[in-house]
Amino acid sequence: MRQSSLVVVANRLPIDDSVAPDGACEWRRSPGGLVSALHPLLRHTPATWVGWAGRTGPAPSLPDVDGVRMQSVPLSAEDFRDHYEGFANATLWPLYHDAVEQPEYHRRWWEAYQRVNQRFAEVAAEVAEPGGVVWIQDYHLQLVPGLLRELRPDLRIGFFLHVPFPPPELFMQLPRRAELLRGMLGADLIGFQRAQAAHNFAQLVAKVLDLPATDRRIGVDDRVVRVGAFPVSIDTGEMAALAARPEVAERARRLRQDLGGPEHVILSVDRMDYTKGIEQRLKAYSELIAGGHVKVRDTVLVQVAMPSRERVGQYQILRERIEREVGRINGEFGRVGEPAIHYLTQPFDRAELAALYRMADVMAVTPLRDGMNLVAKEYVAARVDDTGALLLSEFAGAAAELSQAYQVNPHDLEGLKQGLLATLQADPADLSRRMRGMREHLREHDIRAWARSYLSALDETGSLTTRLR
Ligand code: G6P
Repeated sequence: MRQSSLVVVANRLPIDDSVAPDGACEWRRSPGGLVSALHPLLRHTPATWVGWAGRTGPAPSLPDVDGVRMQSVPLSAEDFRDHYEGFANATLWPLYHDAVEQPEYHRRWWEAYQRVNQRFAEVAAEVAEPGGVVWIQDYHLQLVPGLLRELRPDLRIGFFLHVPFPPPELFMQLPRRAELLRGMLGADLIGFQRAQAAHNFAQLVAKVLDLPATDRRIGVDDRVVRVGAFPVSIDTGEMAALAARPEVAERARRLRQDLGGPEHVILSVDRMDYTKGIEQRLKAYSELIAGGHVKVRDTVLVQVAMPSRERVGQYQILRERIEREVGRINGEFGRVGEPAIHYLTQPFDRAELAALYRMADVMAVTPLRDGMNLVAKEYVAARVDDTGALLLSEFAGAAAELSQAYQVNPHDLEGLKQGLLATLQADPADLSRRMRGMREHLREHDIRAWARSYLSALDETGSLTTRLR
């Protein structure tokens, strides 16, 4: 097998399959995300991406994407059910997001998690060249750093967690907590979105494994593992360029017209997930209408909720609850041709998304807990004329950077209502000052800067000789 000096390992490959007009299956690069971040860095480096191709069964043969080799890891239907839907998305995901839904613990899921992580580690070990760099992504693969180190101690290993890392009192619930921490400690550098997560991790390592740990360094056997916060970002330039296209601006105008030319448009774009605070937001909006603070004729809410993890029970129940609530609100407050909420569950391409961002006066991003939330950053990047208001949950990772957003606690219904009203009534000069500040921040802190800062920190771990004990 051909080997690469840089290997990215993630649960999903950065490609989607689609059917070409002649009926053949085509693989296309998924829009945005890590692959575009890494692309400029990879141009002169032979790189491989290890991941699952999105279908169960034998691994399909895949084309290179922008010069990066795609190495797929096959998953059986049972692996998918017990690793992805089970341990990753019904145990770790709710636990890491403040347990806003009850995490479930099953031994069979844990066994699948170990088995699938082992397979990813084996594939990574095969494709990494001697002394190469392997960068492992997210909560689906927390055991891979440790497993890979056993197979290939010569490699430089990085791990980055895209979701929050919970406080000790929550993480302690996990029956296999010590193994998960040990798995992550196989890395040379463990990256989190926020400093608080690094702090939680260090506290847990000290408590559960009795290792010497600070928020920046942990002593493991004869190694020092570095820990740090590296807030992930978007391809700011790409989104801004897309939003600035005349046809996108025109599409935004048409969309607004189609909505009946209201005075205000509020937009929310979420994956259909119980962490996103969609129900709380709908409640706040409906109470504003019921209280006479907002008139459906003047103000509309466009809620995009992309279905996600659809076979997981908690997600099915959530979708039913949201759809019932949207129906109730439209039934109670809408008029013929004037629904209070425009509710969409279809996927949108990047240009349509950019047009939606340009159309909206207010973007409401109010998750109960979120590792980062890139939609908030995309909205800012798309506001090329410095207009528009961002209403942002203080529990989204993005809140640490986007301090000029209107920040709210989504658990506080009155606060959420006040926040929505404040954005609707804001002074345009104040909005423009805030938006300019946030855009400037994102111009500098884009996804390339993120990848560069993480990889150079990983590179530096090689010179670390300090011991904690
Ligand atoms: C979160 C996770 C990602 C994941 C994405 C979509 O952002 O951090 O790792 O890919 O959700 O979820 P899905 O289950 O569709 O991969």
